[in-house]
Amino acid sequence: MERTKTGVKGLDELLKGGIPKNAVVLVSGAAGSGKTIFGLQFLVNGITEFGEKGMFVTFEESHEDVTSQAAQFGWDLEKLEADGKLRIMTFTPSKHHLSHINSEIENAINSFKPSRLVYDSISTIGVYAEVIADVETLMSLGLKKEDIAIELPPETITRRAVMDIMGKLKSSQLTSLVVSELPKKSDYLSRDTVSEFIADGIILLHCLEKKEKKIRAIEVLKMRRTNHSMDLVPIILGEKGIEVLVGEKVY
Ligand SMILES: Nc1ncnc2c1ncn2[C@@H]1O[C@H](COP(=O)(O)OP(=O)(O)O)[C@@H](O)[C@H]1O
Ligand SMILES: [Mg+2]
Repeated sequence: MERTKTGVKGLDELLKGGIPKNAVVLVSGAAGSGKTIFGLQFLVNGITEFGEKGMFVTFEESHEDVTSQAAQFGWDLEKLEADGKLRIMTFTPSKHHLSHINSEIENAINSFKPSRLVYDSISTIGVYAEVIADVETLMSLGLKKEDIAIELPPETITRRAVMDIMGKLKSSQLTSLVVSELPKKSDYLSRDTVSEFIADGIILLHCLEKKEKKIRAIEVLKMRRTNHSMDLVPIILGEKGIEVLVGEKVY
């Protein structure tokens, strides 16, 4: 089976060689757990180590926010963009309708042809459920006019939208990381409660309290088509980004 190596030190070992090619992987964790940094690292490694083009779709940050965060780790995103290896797309869901966002992304995938994509984050869809709820968008998500006439709860809209986005990523020829913001205490692995079932894989990023110290850890919870480690493994967020300390224990 072909694999997409993350190039993150230690992680490909946990994944027995890498993410199965063309999988859609949910990257879930609380705010500050390193999801965005991990996503950028995945794309930068893809370009610099494996010659694969990458696309970063963000709803959370400006182009400037993204490039300056990356610069902290020595990743020159502007150069990668200028070289035609990377595309950064920024959207403001309060301004852009979901149908517009989806078609922009689809067009960019078709013309730029990236091998890797990061969607940061799917949780934004939930926040803007009411904004995206125009009849046209809802119908494009497969809802019928008579259903739309009765008031739909935002959760229904969110789930439909998430299923639509993830379904499109699954049927495209690229390996994607879909970031999901998790509340500190939650019974689910995503805020929308459906993306965890649709995703081919789930990687959790943790920020754990150990005595007075906080430690970071990673866990591969699910990865279809491959065997993988089930351990909670400590990570460090250092000068070169995320590094997985394979063989070390959290507790
Ligand atoms: N230059 C850096 N070196 C080490 N750690 C950093 C650096 N910059 C940010 N961080 C850490 O990374 C965290 C943010 O990571 P990020 O990927 O943006 O989190 P998330 O996307 O999960 O909210 C910060 O809260 C900080 O702890
Ligand atoms: Mg983030």
